[in-house]
Amino acid sequence: MEKVILDCDPGHDDAIAIMLAAGNPAIDLLGITTVAGNQTIEKVTRNALSVCAAAGIHVPVARGASAPLVASQVVAEDIHGATGLDGPALPEPAFALDPRHAVDFIIDTVMAHESNTVNLVPVGPLTNIALAMRKEPRIIERVKSVVLMGGAHTRGNMTPHAEFNIYVDPEAAEAAFRADWNVTMVGLDLTHQALASAELQARVRAIGGPVSEFVGAVWDFVGAAYREVYEFEAPPVHDACCVAALIDPTIFTTAMADVRVELRGEWTRGTTVVNFRDVPGMHHSSGSAERQTDFRTAVALQLDQQRFADQVVDAVERLTANLAK
Ligand code: RIB
Ligand code: CA
Repeated sequence: MEKVILDCDPGHDDAIAIMLAAGNPAIDLLGITTVAGNQTIEKVTRNALSVCAAAGIHVPVARGASAPLVASQVVAEDIHGATGLDGPALPEPAFALDPRHAVDFIIDTVMAHESNTVNLVPVGPLTNIALAMRKEPRIIERVKSVVLMGGAHTRGNMTPHAEFNIYVDPEAAEAAFRADWNVTMVGLDLTHQALASAELQARVRAIGGPVSEFVGAVWDFVGAAYREVYEFEAPPVHDACCVAALIDPTIFTTAMADVRVELRGEWTRGTTVVNFRDVPGMHHSSGSAERQTDFRTAVALQLDQQRFADQVVDAVERLTANLAK
């Protein structure tokens, strides 16, 4: 089993990531931490508890950072709505929050487990991750991997080249990319292949029951938002791709790259500048001679869409069966 701390900002696709992490037996979900992103910290934290209540998930949930390190807060109300999870009926929380701040939960959990066993899966802005690294630097050598949803090596979704999670807190993201741990960057180039297609939605609806209905309502709302804002035929299930890779490390291909976050560009702030080491036709010089490139980040490229869809259906089936017990 892969031990996972899921750091998220639910968020419609975060909700599916929570369900996949809790529903698949290959994942030991140690806890969920929340971070301001798609909506305010109050709303995303409430949403995380509601997703757990809706799917019968009972793991620690710890509330995290209420704003980016430096940037002014930006939310994604046009995509996720006023609650951050518009669409489904949001059940009352079934349990109380963990009393610790998310940063302390991350530190305590990583320090309490054997080194090289806990994976951090940040699928919102990286604020909590950066704060945890600075409060307890020892977690960097102890964490097995960081599999983050964020960035892009072609086109962004907030500006032409910047993706939301990185754009919201670029300083935190740059700190995460510069730390000496194993990072897999699951950017938009990958997650835009992970669509909740009509076929996948039909498979989930066919399961029936409260979890299926919740997911259906999630996709109804975010699907309409993606049609309206981005002219997408179906909504990308961005965040679940990170969990999917910990379930099945071959579910997408990767290439090693040096990834830097632009912090100063008037038009490019929040862009992930991805310099692939050996992808034909995409290699660039390392730029200014004095800058040390590290080629340490695995950037996700090509998704096995069928296996991804199968994982999502399997998780909803398992959570549904568990609820029925
Ligand atoms: O750009 C997509 C990312 O931003 C996803 O994590 C989504 O939940 C939002 O946080
Ligand atoms: Ca998210």
